[in-house]
Amino acid sequence: MSASNGRSGLTVMVLGADGYIGWPMAMHLSRLGHRVVAVDNLARRRWDREGGTYSLVPLRSMGQRVRRWEAVTGNQIVWRRADLRNAPAVNALFQEFRPHALVHFAEQRSAPFSMVDRRHAELTQVNNLVGTLNLLFAIRDQVPDCHLIKLGTMGEYGTPNIDIEEGYIDIEHNGRRDRLPFPKVPGSFYHLSKVHDSNNIHFATRAWGVRATDLNQGVVYGFETDDTVLHPDLNTRFDFDSIWGTALNRFCVQAAVGQPLTVYGKGGQTRGFLDIRDTMACITLALENPADRGECRVFNQFTEQFSVLQLAELIAKGRKAHGLDTTIAHVPNPRIELEEHYYNAKHQHLLDLGLQPHLLADTLLDSVIAMVEKRSDKVDAVLLEQPSVSWKTGGNEVWDRYSTHKTAGPPRAVRGEEAPQKAR
Ligand SMILES: NC(=O)c1ccc[n+]([C@@H]2O[C@H](COP(=O)([O-])OP(=O)(O)OC[C@H]3O[C@@H](n4cnc5c(N)ncnc54)[C@H](O)[C@@H]3O)[C@@H](O)[C@H]2O)c1
Repeated sequence: MSASNGRSGLTVMVLGADGYIGWPMAMHLSRLGHRVVAVDNLARRRWDREGGTYSLVPLRSMGQRVRRWEAVTGNQIVWRRADLRNAPAVNALFQEFRPHALVHFAEQRSAPFSMVDRRHAELTQVNNLVGTLNLLFAIRDQVPDCHLIKLGTMGEYGTPNIDIEEGYIDIEHNGRRDRLPFPKVPGSFYHLSKVHDSNNIHFATRAWGVRATDLNQGVVYGFETDDTVLHPDLNTRFDFDSIWGTALNRFCVQAAVGQPLTVYGKGGQTRGFLDIRDTMACITLALENPADRGECRVFNQFTEQFSVLQLAELIAKGRKAHGLDTTIAHVPNPRIELEEHYYNAKHQHLLDLGLQPHLLADTLLDSVIAMVEKRSDKVDAVLLEQPSVSWKTGGNEVWDRYSTHKTAGPPRAVRGEEAPQKAR
């Protein structure tokens, strides 16, 4: 691994720059003195319109955001609308900017969305795989030294009954040893798309000498960074519905509007988590310490692990400290996943590079809940409470009620046929 800490003035393309993480990342790198080219096809805003979902924090357009950023800080972010599935458009971006590095967020990132029906599974895999392939070919053909920093997910590994290593595992089999990619058992067509991407990236590093960092990121929480707080026009999104919102966001919103926290099944599902400010730090560390040519470096990017039930209990405890009672309800799990399992994932590489984690604190949960309380009249109770996609049968009645694209799948599973069981 080459060490080049403190590199600034790089040309960095942030792909998916209109998204939850992409927009704060574009500002963060711009503030650090990099020349940032922000690219997005605005697909996510379209998917929101199709599915009736929305960010609880109001969002400006990309044009308004970059103008406000320049007015507030004096720094410029170049904004380009482009679809990564379009190879000529990707090649034109490379010709124009000749990037030193790519930070690639530009994918369909919802597991439930990928499970709605055949069309959504196809959309997810074509969007994610073709976009990443186009970037790999553009690197090979135009800027072979460019460093690809690609966002994957901890969900690629699934929940094996052994420790999860960072990308590779040393195996002894029939008396022979090798270091091989860690086995992956992902839990949705979305997570599978990330595994397929990882395989394609690994191959391109071996075949063409591409330098790549594949970040298996945990679930990101928080909606404020040093840059988003500078002006309301610089906000990033906050999703709370069952398609795009994480369990932690949903619980914060449920607590704010006085609803029970709805835990899917037993709630023993354990995952890695990190604060959005640590995402900024991790990606900056990867950028400033690039992978070598031909190296496919894998970092597990999270700082703490929690079960879904632990998160709900943390929030209930925090509310109790304010004299508020919060109930936890166990509801039927729309997903196919283990609800009690071993989970111990390594995450040392980013700490070795200097990451100093912000751990999940009551103060952060309080600030998220306080933000939601101010906007509680904007919360759609059905989107908050009702899963609209079942892993077995796809989009249900709730999906069809909100979506402009009705599913044409088998008979629907509708949650709510069974009353939630109160745990406490
Ligand atoms: N948010 C999390 O907790 C989390 C956790 C693990 C991994 N990740 C990964 O991090 C990345 C960013 O996540 P996010 O939460 O910011 O997602 P997001 O949906 O908010 O942002 C993704 C952005 O990519 C854009 N995009 C999608 N396809 C595109 C294409 N073909 N061409 C151009 N732009 C395209 C979308 O319009 C959107 O603005 C994703 O790859 C996701 O899988 C996120």
